[in-house]
Amino acid sequence: MTDSDEGAASAQAFSPTEIRAVYRAIEERRDMRTFSGGAVPPEALSRLLHAAHSAPSVGLMQPWRFIRITDPSLRARIYDVVDAERERTAVALGDRYSEFLRLKVEGVRECAELFVVALREGRERHVFGRRTLPQMDLASVSCAIQNMWLAARAEGYGMGWVSIFEPAELCEVVPMPGDAEPVAILCLGPVPEFPERPVLEIEHWTTARPLPEFVSENGWD
Ligand SMILES: Cc1cc2nc3c(=O)[nH]c(=O)nc-3n(C[C@H](O)[C@H](O)[C@H](O)COP(=O)(O)O)c2cc1C
Repeated sequence: MTDSDEGAASAQAFSPTEIRAVYRAIEERRDMRTFSGGAVPPEALSRLLHAAHSAPSVGLMQPWRFIRITDPSLRARIYDVVDAERERTAVALGDRYSEFLRLKVEGVRECAELFVVALREGRERHVFGRRTLPQMDLASVSCAIQNMWLAARAEGYGMGWVSIFEPAELCEVVPMPGDAEPVAILCLGPVPEFPERPVLEIEHWTTARPLPEFVSENGWD
């Protein structure tokens, strides 16, 4: 965006500087697995959780629950749950077994802050927007996590979404109601740097496809 775009903005638009900041956070957000220890000050942590909690949710059901892990022994047990699934994922990948194990896919032990994010209990009561698409609860939690991810990037903190875990095993370590469901382990904190591109590209695991391949008009072509 350049200043000459200003005239095209609607009356409700942010200022050009603010618009650039929003797009910058979106473009420079990265999934982070390498952390430099340190801490996230309580005020910043509070802002990030408020950002998450400001997310849209289907029927305004707010299906998220953020469990902050501060007990080092709990963190160690969560790491073990992730590591066990990392091995099983590698096996499931077959001939990419060793290549996968060389990737860094989590920062559970090094990050300043660790959260388990779960879908809340009692979700079946919420029918609005979920009668035919019950997975809209997960979509809503994803919106919350993305808000937190972008706010963290803007504040200079890295965040990584870890989904490499067996939910039942995680629930043994972090007990929760039977109909709740953990969907993310979030690693958050100071990072040495933000890579310019997804780590999975830098490590030659895969390549992101360009936008035109994902947009069509009047049908799926
Ligand atoms: C729902 C979800 C789950 C993910 N789980 C993991 C994970 O377990 N381990 C990991 O290293 N990255 C995980 N990622 C990060 C993706 O690999 C990453 O977003 C993708 O490679 C693009 O990189 P970028 O986020 O830096 O743009 C996850 C991302 C999402 C959205």
